[in-house]
Amino acid sequence: MPKKSKPTFYITTPIYYVNDVPHIGHAYTTIIADALARFKKLDGYDVFFLTGTDEHGQKVEKAAAAKGLKPQELADKVVVRFKDLWAALGIEPDGFIRTTDPAHERGVQKIFARLLEKGDIYKGTYQGWYCVGEENFLSEDAPAGPDGTKVCPDCGRTATLVEESTYFFRLSAYARPLLEFYEAHPNFVRPQGRMNEVVSFVKGGLRDLSISRTTVHWGIPMPGDPAHTIYVWFDALHNYLTGIGYDGDMDRFRKFWPANVHLIGKDILRFHAVFWPAFLMAGGFALPECVYGHGWWLKDDAKMSKSKGNVLDPYVIINAFGADPLRYFLLREVPIGHDGNFSHEGFIHRTNSDLANDLGNLVHRTLTMIRSYFGGRLPAPGAETAEDAAIREAFGRVKAAVHTHYEAYALNKALEETWGYITAVNKYLADSAPWKLAKDPNERPRLARVLYQAAAAIRGVIYLVYPVMPGSARKVWAWLGEPGAIEDVPFAGLAFADFDAGREIAEPTPLFPRVDLKEFLAADAGSAAVKAAGPEAREDRMDQITYDEFKKIELKVALILEAEKVQGATKLLKLKVDLGTEQRQVVAGVAESYKPEDLVGKKLILVANLKPAIIRGVESQGMILAAVAGDKAVIPFFEGEIAPGSTVK
Ligand code: ME8
Ligand code: MG
Repeated sequence: MPKKSKPTFYITTPIYYVNDVPHIGHAYTTIIADALARFKKLDGYDVFFLTGTDEHGQKVEKAAAAKGLKPQELADKVVVRFKDLWAALGIEPDGFIRTTDPAHERGVQKIFARLLEKGDIYKGTYQGWYCVGEENFLSEDAPAGPDGTKVCPDCGRTATLVEESTYFFRLSAYARPLLEFYEAHPNFVRPQGRMNEVVSFVKGGLRDLSISRTTVHWGIPMPGDPAHTIYVWFDALHNYLTGIGYDGDMDRFRKFWPANVHLIGKDILRFHAVFWPAFLMAGGFALPECVYGHGWWLKDDAKMSKSKGNVLDPYVIINAFGADPLRYFLLREVPIGHDGNFSHEGFIHRTNSDLANDLGNLVHRTLTMIRSYFGGRLPAPGAETAEDAAIREAFGRVKAAVHTHYEAYALNKALEETWGYITAVNKYLADSAPWKLAKDPNERPRLARVLYQAAAAIRGVIYLVYPVMPGSARKVWAWLGEPGAIEDVPFAGLAFADFDAGREIAEPTPLFPRVDLKEFLAADAGSAAVKAAGPEAREDRMDQITYDEFKKIELKVALILEAEKVQGATKLLKLKVDLGTEQRQVVAGVAESYKPEDLVGKKLILVANLKPAIIRGVESQGMILAAVAGDKAVIPFFEGEIAPGSTVK
């Protein structure tokens, strides 16, 4: 029988600039995308979820110069921070694109060359104001700044005057086709209010767009005129094509393009809803189904942004609570199109009440009762009463409503609906009072029914919240004795009664921590102090490691037993050291500073868990620590009594 192919769903996030490390705002978009991708996978779609980094352009070039790094070096450092954060947040994209990937660069050049040949790109001279912060050319009506300058209406910084030879994209020619397209696809921009904004912008008239720069060197070279680099936004937007294979893996590209939704923040709506479809029309590509512009997370009523220095470090929360409470809070607290004010008070209140109390307690109480009253294995439940049936039937309705909300990207409503049900199940348990039933041996069948009903409801709830809290959901799923993975149960196939009695129920551990606001704020004070020190201090943090990372390095006191020169290497000594429980052979580059006989009997610090390496034909099982003073090495030795093998930290 031919295999029926699944419908596809292609969802993207913006690709983030690598001028600085990610904050809660970036996490927000990427969490929404992850949750929607997980829902669509459950719902039977073949999903591709793409995210990545935007690495070219003047902003990154400047940030790198300020740190004394090459732009590529900065990008290589920061991209790790994005990938680590996504992993820490349980975000699992299907693809991660970097605009410095050679395949992306080739794809962009190919499209650029095509538009040039078509006449949609032509050469001219540009004179105007440019905002490096937003990588944006300002319109003539941008507000005036000091001394005849102009100020960026989006970020408030003074713009730079640019006058140079450039290639223009014939954007003006696309005003009418764009308006026709919007008319025919009223849901292209969502939420609806943002569509109106876009239409009136285009109706106001479109000027041709400068899409190459001679004064910016960190960019994709223009094919045929390498004095020019391609404008960072032309480069970046095309990641949505190259990230699924254009023009290498064309099968995958054809399978997923056009995108179902480009998820973005409202700050970059114009680029996605005006420039992007115009580029695609010019290139002869199909247009995406939807651009969804979500709202901003504010801190103290201002948009959280790197340039304002009011960003929140997601790790402060992840370290204290884990990823799921943060995912839950961001998706539950505000409707996706609205702005939200982030406060630790609000976050802790929600975590304690919705997660620790409502859901966490329900799971804990129910599973613990099954374990203590029935030894972890529910017998066949007694007959269903009207109250029991109400809980079962309500689940069917809730499941259908949650499906509709997920489909509409209304994640907060999906969660609200689910929590309404959790409240009902908690009330059912309180009314049925299984702890009282447990005292009467004649009530065993009734007790089994009540706990069965609660456990089956929990299983349903856990499935519904899996897209938002995958880590916690998988945990409970396993406690409930489910044989397979959550992802193996299709949304349509999920039924309340698929929970069979008789299975082994595991001992639960607390799902969500209860956190005291005062304690949490005290723990956060360290990071607040760093923020207060201003952007300079914040920038440095990019090179810092966490304590957990430091802890991975095993430092030990080592006693030198023997030392000799390594044949044919003037700088190297071979040492035999005692670590208390074992001896090691170590090669150290200290021969120009120390004579072998001076070292014997000394105690120093050894990196004890470094992977062994062969140096000049000699195996080195660790590394000693020494200060570098020009050409010399200076080894810190221990004075006084200290046993070899003692931990150094
Ligand atoms: O604009 N609240 O990258 P970027 C909510 N490279 N979301 C926020 C936010 C906040 N306070 N701050 C940032 C760029 N975001 C370009 C995109 S795409 C082809 C190129 C999120 O690093 C939101 O999704 O400035 C916003 O659109 C994006 O980060 C901007 O990230
Ligand atoms: Mg930005």
